[in-house]
Amino acid sequence: VGPDVIDIRKLYAQTGKFTYDPGFLSTASCQSAITYIDGDKGELLYRGYPIEQLAENCDFLETCYLLLNGELPNVTEKAKFVKTVNGHTMVNEQMQFFLRGFRRDAHPMAVLTGLVGGLSAFYHDSTDVQNPEHRAIAAIRLIAKMPTLVAMAYKYSIGQPYIYPRNDLSYTSNFMRMMFGTPCEEYVPNDVLVRAMDRIFILHADHEQNASTSTVRLCGSSGTNPFAAIAAGVACLWGPAHGGANEACLNMLEDIQKMGGVAKVGKFIEQVKDKNSGVRLMGFGHRVYKNYDPRAKLMRETCHEVLAEMGLQNDPLFKLAMELEKIALEDDYFVSRKLYPNVDFYSGIVQRAIGIPVSLFTAIFALARTVGWIAQLNEMIGDPEYKIGRPRQLFVGATARDVTPIAERA
Ligand code: ACO
Repeated sequence: VGPDVIDIRKLYAQTGKFTYDPGFLSTASCQSAITYIDGDKGELLYRGYPIEQLAENCDFLETCYLLLNGELPNVTEKAKFVKTVNGHTMVNEQMQFFLRGFRRDAHPMAVLTGLVGGLSAFYHDSTDVQNPEHRAIAAIRLIAKMPTLVAMAYKYSIGQPYIYPRNDLSYTSNFMRMMFGTPCEEYVPNDVLVRAMDRIFILHADHEQNASTSTVRLCGSSGTNPFAAIAAGVACLWGPAHGGANEACLNMLEDIQKMGGVAKVGKFIEQVKDKNSGVRLMGFGHRVYKNYDPRAKLMRETCHEVLAEMGLQNDPLFKLAMELEKIALEDDYFVSRKLYPNVDFYSGIVQRAIGIPVSLFTAIFALARTVGWIAQLNEMIGDPEYKIGRPRQLFVGATARDVTPIAERA
C-alpha cells in the first residue's frame, strides 16, 4: 500500500502465513487520518496542523472540534460546539452514590475507570456504537463530563463537597473551579494557570495508535458501547509505561531530591544505566519519537511560565529535571538509544505547581485524551472495512495429550 508498507492481508489470503510482531513494533493496526507523528524529526500534527501552532493559537475545545471533525471551527461553529459541550457538563446525581462506594484513599484512576464505564448505565440513547448519532452524543457527553468526574473524584478523596459545573466559564476555567473552588468563596481563575492547564489538555489530546488508543479501538471493535470502550482506554493509560509515567516521573524526582538532589543526579543516571537495577529514567524514551518529543519542548516552556507566575523559579524539582535532561542528553547510553524527554518529563512539575496532587496526574491525562480516543473510535467504526480486532498468536505450549485420571498423576 506504500513504498515502505506491505499489505500482509493479501499474503495471508494466498498462503495462510501471518506475521509475528509482539508489541506491534512494525505492524500498522489501522489506517488513520487524525494524527501524524514523524518520530525521527520530532514532529506531531493533528489533522495536518503542527502541535506548536495549535498550542499557541487554539484552545482545547477548538482542538477537540478539529480532532472530531477534521477542520478547525470558525467563530459560529465554535460557539455552537462550546454551547453543546456546556449543555452536558453535569453528571447524573446518582453518580455520587457510585462514588461513595469507593474508599476515600482509592487511586483516582481506579475511581475514574469505574465512573466512566458507569456512564453507560445512564445514557441509553448513546450506547449503540454503530449508530452515528449515538456516537456523536456520546463524544460530547464524554468530553463534557470528564472534567466533572475527575474533579468529583478529587473532592471525594479530600472530603470536600463537590462543586457543580458553571457553564459561563471556559472548559478549563470550569475544571479548575470544580477542582479548587469551595462553597465558601468564589474561585477566581488565574489566567496563566488556566492557559497552562489548557495547553496540557491540547498536548495530550491525541497521539495516534498508542497503547490506550489501540485498546479503545480493539475494545470498540467488538461493538461495545462508547463509554465502555473509553473506560478500557482509561484502564490502559494507568500503567507507568504509558500515562502513569507522569506520576512515576514526579515520584522519581522527589526520590532523587530526598537522596540529595542535583548532586545525586550522576549517581542516579549510573543506576539507570545498570540494566540489573530495573530503574528507568521516567519521562524519557518513546516508541515512536527518536528525537525530542515536541510536546516536551512546549511543556518545558510552560513549566518556566507557570513557575515564574507562582514565584517558584527556584523549584528544586524543576532544577533537578533540567540537570537530569542535560546529563542524559550528553550520555552515550541515552544518545545511542535515542532516548529523549517525552511529554511526561515536565508535565508533572507543571501540574504540581498548579496544585494538582500527584495521584491525579494520570486522570488529567485521561480527561485530555478522551477526545482522541473517541475520534479514533469514530474513525474506526465509520470505516466500512473495519473488522473486530482479533490478533493471531504463535503457539508455543504443549501439543495434544491425554488427561491422566487425578489419582494416577505424579
Ligand atoms: N530509561 C532507561 N533506559 C531506557 C528507557 C528509560 N526511560 N527507555 C528505554 N530504555 C532503553 C531500554 O532499556 C532498551 O535498551 P536495550 O536496547 O539496551 O535493551 C532501549 O532503551 C529500548 O527500550 P524499549 O523498552 O525496547 O523501548 P520501547 O519502545 O518498547 O519503550 C517506553 C518505550 C515504554 C516509553 C520506554 O522508553 C520507557 O519505559 N520509558 C519510561 C516510561 C515513560 O516515560 N513512558 C511514557 C511514554 S510517553 C506516553 O505514554 C505519554
